[in-house]
Amino acid sequence: MMPRRASHQVAPLFTLVGVVLVLHAQLAFAKDESGVTTQAFGTHNGRSITLYTLKNSHGLEIEAMNYGGIIAAIRVPDRNGKMADVVLGHERMDDYVPNPPYFGAIVGRYANRIANGMFILDGRIYTLPKNDGPNTLHGGIQRTFDKVVWDAAPLNGKTGVEFTYLSKDGEEGFPGNLKVKVTYTLNDSNELIINYEATTDKDTPINLSNHSYFNLKGEGDGDILNHEIMINADRFTPVNQNLIPTGELRPVKGTPLDFTKPTRIGDHIEDNYDQLKLAHGYDHNFVINRHGNGIVLAARAYEPTTGRVLEVSTTQPGVQFYTGNFLDGTITGHGHVYKRRYGFCLETQHFPDSPNHPSFPSTILRPGETFHQTTIFRFSAK
Ligand code: GLA
Repeated sequence: MMPRRASHQVAPLFTLVGVVLVLHAQLAFAKDESGVTTQAFGTHNGRSITLYTLKNSHGLEIEAMNYGGIIAAIRVPDRNGKMADVVLGHERMDDYVPNPPYFGAIVGRYANRIANGMFILDGRIYTLPKNDGPNTLHGGIQRTFDKVVWDAAPLNGKTGVEFTYLSKDGEEGFPGNLKVKVTYTLNDSNELIINYEATTDKDTPINLSNHSYFNLKGEGDGDILNHEIMINADRFTPVNQNLIPTGELRPVKGTPLDFTKPTRIGDHIEDNYDQLKLAHGYDHNFVINRHGNGIVLAARAYEPTTGRVLEVSTTQPGVQFYTGNFLDGTITGHGHVYKRRYGFCLETQHFPDSPNHPSFPSTILRPGETFHQTTIFRFSAK
């Protein structure tokens, strides 16, 4: 028999351990009625990272975290109801540090390229860190939107999550304190709605996008060349050898960039056309056909073996169609090797290098204005 003294000490100890375990479990995995589940997902620079899982009534699931606002998974049914994760990604938060292909991330302050890491605004020259030959790509090097920890909270009364971040005056060379809010909302029409909002206290360029790599067959399941794609664009912005727009808006008609009718990605990707050679495949900004600033369909992708369809609609003027030309099999995810062209991106955006092209739609946000953009990714199967 245990001495009395000992049993007195042991019982409260067990209770304490029990309470701690229950509390820990609640903190590590919490679900509310809106279809949002939260899960502790590691730490970065001493800040805790949370994984938010959004689930709708059809079982569609989106996973996103406050490190880089990264979308880690999108699970959608095929024509027989079979689920697959259709974005390239990783299981563990640490595998996203670093994330050279920008898998799933929010990119900014300036998505895509700024030539020679330089622009002139209000008569002042601004220089930015160069990370892509002579260019600044996706906002710079250190504190870019894909690799900072955002504040996060589930959305009230919606299946969604809100990420906020204050990019300080001078961060990565950009002027102004820029307050950014990005929300991901999932609805029962199988739409993932991404809303971007920002305000500034000094004139500054801004261009925000999401850098998800899709493979509608399922991540890791081969290349994307067999997908059929339609891009609602009669023109694109041809690039020079540094992938910087020349300023021309070239008709796609008669070129391998004509996706105005659904076309297999692989059909012309190896054509002997200067723009494809320069970019090693598709890596081009398309000028979305639109009247006014509303939401229009930018692109539709269809994967014939599974029947999965992705439709991308947006308020933005452009969409970068990138065919994962720089993936080279050195990055793995979920136990799969991600080889060249294992994913494609449809990065809705303003045109690359707009601050240096006065003829392109302006990317300058001024104090008192609010930057607003919306992109909707809609999933279905046929
Ligand atoms: C963008 C660019 C590509 C490439 C990827 C990241 O899509 O346009 O050239 O840099 O990001 O690998």
